[in-house]
Amino acid sequence: MGEPVNVGVVGCGAISAQYFRTIERLPQVRLAAVADLDLDRAREAVRPYPGTDVLGVAELMADPRIDVLLNLTVPAAHAEIALQAIAAGKDVYCEKPLAANVADAARVLRAAGEAGVRVGCAPDTVLGTGTQTARMAIDHGLIGRPVAATATMLTPGHERWHPNPDFYYAPGGGPLLDMGPYYVTCLVTLLGPVASVVGASGRTRPKRTIGSGPRQGEEVPVSVDTHVTGVLVHASGALSTLVMSFDGVATRSPNIEVHGEKGSLAVPDPNHFDGAVLASVLGEEGWRELPVSAGYVEAGRGVGLADFASAHSGAEPRAGGSLAFHVLDVMESLLDAARSGTAVTLASTCERPLPVALRPLAGELDR
Ligand SMILES: NC(=O)c1ccc[n+]([C@@H]2O[C@H](COP(=O)([O-])OP(=O)(O)OC[C@H]3O[C@@H](n4cnc5c(N)ncnc54)[C@H](O)[C@@H]3O)[C@@H](O)[C@H]2O)c1
Repeated sequence: MGEPVNVGVVGCGAISAQYFRTIERLPQVRLAAVADLDLDRAREAVRPYPGTDVLGVAELMADPRIDVLLNLTVPAAHAEIALQAIAAGKDVYCEKPLAANVADAARVLRAAGEAGVRVGCAPDTVLGTGTQTARMAIDHGLIGRPVAATATMLTPGHERWHPNPDFYYAPGGGPLLDMGPYYVTCLVTLLGPVASVVGASGRTRPKRTIGSGPRQGEEVPVSVDTHVTGVLVHASGALSTLVMSFDGVATRSPNIEVHGEKGSLAVPDPNHFDGAVLASVLGEEGWRELPVSAGYVEAGRGVGLADFASAHSGAEPRAGGSLAFHVLDVMESLLDAARSGTAVTLASTCERPLPVALRPLAGELDR
């Protein structure tokens, strides 16, 4: 294993601590510097990591020691920060979604191509044992030819716990763009790219009330649909039915089920790395839990960054830009389909990312 790749982080909000903890466990990457519009927040975030520089955004972009820019800003700033990093000649790994819209994401991928730098993107939860064990079962034919899937995410909304939930209700947010990346990335990992979509969507109320933190009680405006449903027609012919909502209270529907001609799989929450995969196979009684057979064990947010940082040059990383672009295109097309009431054919596609063999997180990555 060579020298660790130096990571510079822009955006030190709620999710950054999870990345910092994972980076500390991974020999492929090193936390070198952080930046934020709010420098006090950046200083506080790296207090447990002495030796990490706290810089202004422009200073971090210009720092020649930084190999990869980890973009943990809010979705509306993803493209702008990515473009700055690309202009500085750095690889970029972005939190999801790749950008607030497909046009911005296309600008990012085009600029990266022209500059000869690479783009990677969350979610990397699908590299954990949950999704990867389900994928192995499908690829080994346990359920026969997959014909359909369901994906359900329903909560009353993140404003109950997030101290600054504004971005969840602004363009680039909403239940589909916020949580859809986990579900759609998982569905593409399991069933391949999507060819077309149909959808319907709605929103319940024009404002949301912050439930915690210093702004508790403050209202934030809602400018996106907060209940989105639709069907993704995969290029394979499989049909995935999606429900993504910040408008309900609770659901007992499984996060994801995949149905094949010979059996069905219950796939764990794609917002987590692990969880039990259950199978019910024709000719057997009931459901049985499959042994964990693939994926990074006890992984955390950042494993996709390490996979990205150590991918051979020219090889598409698993949490790669073309997958993230396709996933964003699926989601935006679904919202377009919901608005227009007609089916939308996808302009983009992608390869299914490579599977991950079963291995501990802190060892050699699966190359
Ligand atoms: N919070 C979660 O549980 C969670 C989970 C998974 C993924 N994510 C994703 O992570 C990203 C960040 O989410 P968060 O919850 O940490 O948000 P946050 O609002 O808590 O933090 C975002 C940080 O980015 C900074 N920032 C925004 N624009 C900037 C700019 N132009 N330049 C420099 N800094 C800038 C803000 O000052 C803030 O500190 C989002 O894309 C979100 O979808 C969040």
